[in-house]
Amino acid sequence: MKQAFKAVQISEHVYWVGAIDFSLREFHGYATQRGTTYNAYLVVGEKVTLIDTVKAPYKGEMLARISSVTEPDNIDVIISNHSEMDHSGCLAEVIDLVQPESVLASAKGVEALREHFGLDCVEALADGESLGVGDLTLSFYETRMLHWPDSMFTYLHADGILFSQDGFGMHLASFERFADELDPPILEYEAAKYYANILLPYSNLVSKTLERVSQSGLDIRMVAPDHGPIWRKDIPKVLDWYAKWADQKPTCKALVVYDTMWHSTELMAKAIGEGVSAGGARALLLPLAGSHRSDVATQLLDAGALVVGSPTMNNNIFPTLSDVLTYIKGLRPKNLIGAAFGSYGWGGEANKQLLAVLEEMKVQLVGEAIKAKYVPDEAALGQCYELGLQIAAKLKEVVGNS
Ligand code: FEO
Repeated sequence: MKQAFKAVQISEHVYWVGAIDFSLREFHGYATQRGTTYNAYLVVGEKVTLIDTVKAPYKGEMLARISSVTEPDNIDVIISNHSEMDHSGCLAEVIDLVQPESVLASAKGVEALREHFGLDCVEALADGESLGVGDLTLSFYETRMLHWPDSMFTYLHADGILFSQDGFGMHLASFERFADELDPPILEYEAAKYYANILLPYSNLVSKTLERVSQSGLDIRMVAPDHGPIWRKDIPKVLDWYAKWADQKPTCKALVVYDTMWHSTELMAKAIGEGVSAGGARALLLPLAGSHRSDVATQLLDAGALVVGSPTMNNNIFPTLSDVLTYIKGLRPKNLIGAAFGSYGWGGEANKQLLAVLEEMKVQLVGEAIKAKYVPDEAALGQCYELGLQIAAKLKEVVGNS
């Protein structure tokens, strides 16, 4: 198989030498229906630099691609933009094999690589530092907490390439290396999904990074992330997506996220959705029997309302609601209104627990939580419909003022 893995030249000095993981379907809690890539880049001038490596099982694929350009032991410098194991899992073995002159990372990257792999050969780069590597110049920009403390961007001046590690990436496996060779709606969905599930908690830092990039004066002709395709066209469009997602301005869209045991909570969800829609907003029902937590997070990225429904089960909320709310709370979405509802048999504790989570998330509550015993009657469904109308009215007010 080694003969089949070739590098792909992406610019005068740079080759993509990463790996394609078509079968990945789960990435620490994130459903990756389209697989992913682990991108590594070989910069070839008078000296040879490897930027990032790949997940451990893909070391052979990466080395085979490097070998199609030059022998791996010709690598002079290795740069780690991000120490998470999908980009560093084989780093220690590659260092042993290559014996480079230097291995470089941000100061936090030096710590993280030592703590992960016991590596003590990694030298720290300063934020904003530029380094001559043979006839080429690289500059380094810390992007701390985007999304790990060690994260940084590397810029290659000669070719105008920003190597952005997880930033501007997506989980999408393909043989096409460039975004402009792929279907635009799929790209936008997967980029949004990546942002919502990985970067959303750090949106304030994303805004600051975008400002720094726009004030840097760097001539960015290509953005080369560590996952998914490379951007050589439409770079302003991608920067605009990030600016929009970082702002989290609400739209007139209400997510109704629920699970159900005997379809009672589902009937309530539908009545709320009908009310939202009749009120002139968009309702999207996400039954958790068929909606993964990472898809809920993606849909929440441009929503203005989060409405959650759960039956009471053993004095608690239904387990799927616990899962998705724990996950979403950690992503720290902003600017949401919301409400709670659900059916019960005797205790009916679920609503109180749902409201407590929404309050922890600083969701502005609309109306009263609605609970229905066993099966919602006409009166209860009417209340749900009215709640939907109230949510739509509030959404229109909030969106009008934002
Ligand atoms: Fe792709 Fe944060 O690792």
